[in-house]
Amino acid sequence: MRAIDAMNTFTKYPNTMTRTNKQMQNDTMNKVIAPFVNSEQHWKVQVAALCAGNSRLVFAVACAFAGPLLRPAGIATGGFHFRGGSSSGKTTALKVAASVNGQPDGLQRWGKTGRALESIAAQQCDSLLVLDALELVDQKTAGKCIDKLFSGVGKSRAAREGEPRPRLSWRLLFLSAGELGLADQMAEGMKRARTGQEVRMAEIPADAGAGCGMLENLHGMDGGGSAFSRHIVEQAGRCYGGPGRAWLQWLTENARTLKPDLRQRIQEIERHMLPEAGAGQVQRAGLRFALVGAAGEMATAAGLTGWEPGESERAAITCFNAWMASVKP
Ligand SMILES: Nc1ncnc2c1ncn2[C@@H]1O[C@H](COP(=O)(O)OP(=O)(O)O)[C@@H](O)[C@H]1O
Ligand SMILES: [Mg+2]
Repeated sequence: MRAIDAMNTFTKYPNTMTRTNKQMQNDTMNKVIAPFVNSEQHWKVQVAALCAGNSRLVFAVACAFAGPLLRPAGIATGGFHFRGGSSSGKTTALKVAASVNGQPDGLQRWGKTGRALESIAAQQCDSLLVLDALELVDQKTAGKCIDKLFSGVGKSRAAREGEPRPRLSWRLLFLSAGELGLADQMAEGMKRARTGQEVRMAEIPADAGAGCGMLENLHGMDGGGSAFSRHIVEQAGRCYGGPGRAWLQWLTENARTLKPDLRQRIQEIERHMLPEAGAGQVQRAGLRFALVGAAGEMATAAGLTGWEPGESERAAITCFNAWMASVKP
């Protein structure tokens, strides 16, 4: 479904999020559309406020706001992968991102069959697809699986009566996590990641370099990263979905100025991000990082995050630099 259709559906039926009736029969989606009183305000205070100062968390949240902006920005399907050791807070960050749009429990995980992955991707069209645990992907088919996601179209399949079924299609941003990167995952299966794949799934080291895994700022909370992680996950599990709904409403109301506003913000972030003309691959990956930074800034301007202006841009640049540093030979 195109973002603009999604927005129209949302305006007509404000309690239904963006899904078609068929998709709404899906149990997971029924959870997503459950109404939550004041969740938007609670989420801002209890979840988003704790993300501030934590580049990976801010970036993950901004990814959720960036999902519906891929199409207006004219950017192809692709995403990011947090790579790092166990208990560094990767799943925590994914849950926090997922709480923008819906129930963060029961995150989707890699390791599905091609068909299941296609149907999940189509359901999340024009939105953020969160996929945890890359290590679950079958090593022999990891490359194919990623190519399938990037291609944006499903396989032609015949229905029982032999008639061709309509092919599924999607454009989406995805946020993944795992203890290994794509190349490692494939290397063990005797294949190498191609540069194109590594650019379309930019791997961000989970370790933020502050001695606290993914985290940099615990907001004075006792008990270290572990307690902080438990707390934010618990809060995200209590109030979710409101910001995603409010965001679609805001996008609908501001549809006329959306594209130029977005373009300008992206260009500004790119200027800060790419001081010298980088290689084409770096530019392409940089554009997607800049989109995420811009989406977070717009959501802040829309009153949805409570962050200071510049917070999301900073997080995107920090994550971009961490990616660059990790891919340098
Ligand atoms: N930054 C951190 N520092 C210390 N412990 C953490 C941190 N983030 C999460 N944890 C703890 O590690 C466990 C797993 O968290 P999770 O977010 O699932 O990490 P991962 O997905 O990286 O394995 C939880 O008990 C959590 O409280
Ligand atoms: Mg995990």
